[in-house]
Amino acid sequence: MNKAKKITKADLAQMNAIVSEYSQQKWALIPLLQQIQREFGYIPPQSMLLIARGLGLFTSQVQGVISFYTQLYTQPRGRNVVRVCRGTACHVRGGKTILKLVKQHLRIEEGETSPDLEYTLETVACIGVCALAPNLVVGDHVHGHMNPKKVEQLFRNREVRE
Ligand code: FES
Repeated sequence: MNKAKKITKADLAQMNAIVSEYSQQKWALIPLLQQIQREFGYIPPQSMLLIARGLGLFTSQVQGVISFYTQLYTQPRGRNVVRVCRGTACHVRGGKTILKLVKQHLRIEEGETSPDLEYTLETVACIGVCALAPNLVVGDHVHGHMNPKKVEQLFRNREVRE
């Protein structure tokens, strides 16, 4: 289950300071969103109204851009992003079981982040290394030829071993 970090007054002040750098510059929406995400790890909902007011946009315009770009997140992300491949090659070689086991180890579902913000679990269509199927990626590291034992080794004690 995703748990949004509590936004403090200091966080709001920091958001305001960032937004004020781009005052009334509508063109700057994407760089501003990226900067907010760099600072907070995601785009807190509380920042959207500040951003809209700061740039002279509607909140719906800000939300629309955020929902369009898959690299912009409105929920906190884990320090380790785990992507399990759901592509055909991985699927026929047991990818479904790998995903099920990863979910069990991390105790989260697809699209969720662990409460300790250690892991985010996602699935992808293909990671481009079908010959190593089934695959998963932790951070930037591809783990190929996955099997139940490897999943156990990788997530035992929920420590990442890249
Ligand atoms: S289908 Fe999994 S890497 Fe291509």
